[in-house]
Amino acid sequence: MKRISLTQYLVEEQRQHNTIPAELRLLIEVVARACKTISHAVGKGALGEVMGSAETENVQGEVQKKLDIISNDILLEANEWGGHLAAMASEEMETIHLIPNRYPKGEYLLLFDPLDGSSNIDVNVSIGTIFSVLKAPEGMGVPTEQDFLQPGSQQVAAGYAVYGPQTVLVLTTGNGVNCFTLDREMGSWVLTQRNMQIPTETKEFAINSSNARHWFPPVTRYVNELLAGDSGPRSSNFNMRWIASMVADVHRILSRGGVFMYPADTRDTKMPGKLRLMYEANPMAFLVEQAGGAATNGAQRIMDIQPEKLHQRVPVFLGSKNEVERVTAYHQE
Ligand code: AHG
Ligand code: MN
Ligand code: MN
Repeated sequence: MKRISLTQYLVEEQRQHNTIPAELRLLIEVVARACKTISHAVGKGALGEVMGSAETENVQGEVQKKLDIISNDILLEANEWGGHLAAMASEEMETIHLIPNRYPKGEYLLLFDPLDGSSNIDVNVSIGTIFSVLKAPEGMGVPTEQDFLQPGSQQVAAGYAVYGPQTVLVLTTGNGVNCFTLDREMGSWVLTQRNMQIPTETKEFAINSSNARHWFPPVTRYVNELLAGDSGPRSSNFNMRWIASMVADVHRILSRGGVFMYPADTRDTKMPGKLRLMYEANPMAFLVEQAGGAATNGAQRIMDIQPEKLHQRVPVFLGSKNEVERVTAYHQE
């Protein structure tokens, strides 16, 4: 089998479709290289200084794990010097990160969740990195948070890495979704799946049902109908999976279909859901739509939401189109 590297894929994609100019290619390659470094750190586990809590809190008031901070630092350092970025933003940093003055600036903005699935680090379950790329607005001076507040439909690239039994990188630049597997001996990303497609129908759903007593009626109705199986209104049995790493749940859905939900609930109306719009929901929505699926917040397409804050949260329903449309319709009734 002829191996196609990430670099070859990016160069040929630009040649054929003109969607990956050199600066964006550099950005993607630098992010991919950072993910390789994070994968290496993750793989060391208890043999490296990477497990456990850092005993600090991020802007969301979550206790940071050592790997949250290590991964954030790896991504910052990798992306500062290349001249491809105007600024970065991360789950682990309250404010945006400007490119130091000693380096040239580029036209892209990079957002990331450096380590997704932090609760799974210490138990050796799949975790990952999520990223989203925007263009800096025309005529931007010194970048501000405001420059990042663009709807997901403006993303020029998005992707995630999963650090699991295999390390994979799943990428879109708006022309389908492709999967690369890290060859650990060679240290290179190899194209292993072209044009990933999410089946429109599915028999699998993912939700943290320990929150069921807090759900709003449309979610309760939808999940109860799934749970009723072949004796209920759906006349069919559904299976459930919940990994508690969005990257791993979304990767399963991109691989074989399914619907993923992290709804808002009755607990705190100022905190709609758990997942963050700009560096979790938007990049995943872009990937899922590019693979033929759908992603909504129950009321509208996630990528149409006009962000108001860098760290804002959003309810998420994504995956196989027919199920996402159904649970969204229940919200509208
Ligand atoms: P992070 O580790 O970046 O904070 O994200 C964790 C998220 C997401 O990956 C996952 O789907 C969800 O939190 C799990 O939440 P519960 O612990 O409520 O199941
Ligand atoms: Mn996350
Ligand atoms: Mn995270």
